[in-house]
Amino acid sequence: MAAAAVLSRSACTLVLCFLFSEQIMQTFAHGVGINYGQIANNLPNPSTVAKLLQSINVSRVKLYDADPNVLASFGSSGVDFIIAIGNENILNMTDSTKAEEWLKQNVQPYINQTQITCVTVGNEVLSGSDTALMQNLLPAMQSVYQALVALGLDKQVNISTAHSVAILENSYPPSSGSFRQDLAEYIHPLLNFHSEINSPFLINAYPFFAYKANPDKISLEYVLFESNPGVTDQNTNLTYDNMLYAQIDAVYAAIKAMGHTDVDVAISETGWPSKGDSDEPGASVENAATYNGNLLKRILMNEGTPMKPDVPINVYVFALFNEDMKPGPTSERNYGLFYPDGTPVYDIGLLREQFLMPSSSSNLMAWCRLGILISLMVILI
Ligand SMILES: *[C@@H]1O[C@H](CO)[C@@H](O)[C@H](O)[C@H]1NC(C)=O
Ligand SMILES: *[C@@H]1O[C@H](CO)[C@@H](O)[C@H](O)[C@H]1NC(C)=O
Ligand SMILES: *[C@@H]1O[C@H](CO)[C@@H](O)[C@H](O)[C@H]1NC(C)=O
Ligand SMILES: *[C@@H]1O[C@H](CO)[C@@H](O)[C@H](O)[C@H]1NC(C)=O
Ligand SMILES: *[C@@H]1O[C@H](CO)[C@@H](O)[C@H](O)[C@H]1NC(C)=O
Repeated sequence: MAAAAVLSRSACTLVLCFLFSEQIMQTFAHGVGINYGQIANNLPNPSTVAKLLQSINVSRVKLYDADPNVLASFGSSGVDFIIAIGNENILNMTDSTKAEEWLKQNVQPYINQTQITCVTVGNEVLSGSDTALMQNLLPAMQSVYQALVALGLDKQVNISTAHSVAILENSYPPSSGSFRQDLAEYIHPLLNFHSEINSPFLINAYPFFAYKANPDKISLEYVLFESNPGVTDQNTNLTYDNMLYAQIDAVYAAIKAMGHTDVDVAISETGWPSKGDSDEPGASVENAATYNGNLLKRILMNEGTPMKPDVPINVYVFALFNEDMKPGPTSERNYGLFYPDGTPVYDIGLLREQFLMPSSSSNLMAWCRLGILISLMVILI
């Protein structure tokens, strides 16, 4: 009897340990990503940035170009990168020779040391007004993909493009999400391509814009992931307690309406400005800290959206630094988690909490090992 009890207790300890370690691995595998924009004249050099990111344990970074200084400085850092081909280069990329040249120059020299997991071709092309660019988008993506295949890199590197939520015609309720009719001719073949090569559909989503446009109608708690009654989608009975998840699910619904259930959605940008002009309600240090802090908490919990509860949200926060040379309203220059000198714009206690996971996890593992050891000793005795 006693031996059986001890045995089952040690089995329990073992099972618990595996459960915990698996959970921890998932947190590691995913974590939060950060957009490293560089439209500024006062940013620290990339090797300093590498140290900053290491200090907050961020290991997924998205660039808006393929800056060789960044890619070289992050060699062997364990950080993985999404790099970008800018809109100005899309036409050239439809030429397979030029696409291969681009990869030879911007990916091949770095990829042995620096993980590059995705190349985005163009940013927010379909919500723009340049129809020639829209027409060239998919051919450019296909040609870069073919070049990846030719160089044997297609298993390591995904091809995608980032969209604004403005490509949606309907986003509410989420189950009625649909793409703009006039964009169907581009999005339909694009989804087929994503499905064929198994690459994610990327969305830049800013609940801040919705709030800024309609501060009287939209609840601040709802956009900031704070406690609120939420809104229920009458078609599905799913309740949404925040706008970002409603936007993500609207994109899933729009994709499904085009016949696909096999394309992942990831958030290539989301964030909240810590400062804005007088006509930008909601832009404040407090709200930015709340938005990004609550978002990080949810990422840490591996939470999925109501429609996809088992698929943890995949998010790149915008942005690492305040970027002083960005045009537009004051908010545009104030999305950063950090000032250019590396000091945090607001309390990133949450970042720390998340990034303390490794040490608390090793404590946990130590306890687990001790538990197993004691159980084994008891059994042997
Ligand atoms: C496109 O290719 C042409 C010819 O190779 C080159 O001169 C031009 O700089 C390229 N455009 C961009 C934006 O890289
Ligand atoms: C990267 O590694 C591959 C295979 O190990 C090797 O063939 C290639 O020359 C390396 N490239 C660079 C730029 O070091
Ligand atoms: C490419 O995207 C697919 C679909 O989201 C994902 O399963 C896969 O892990 C990605 N590959 C890399 C190298 O990140
Ligand atoms: C939603 O809930 C209502 C009331 O409980 C129920 O009548 C309806 O069938 C549900 N709809 C779905 C899609 O589950
Ligand atoms: C990052 O993780 C390391 C362990 O890998 C830990 O020692 C450190 O405290 C963490 N950093 C922060 C800022 O939480």
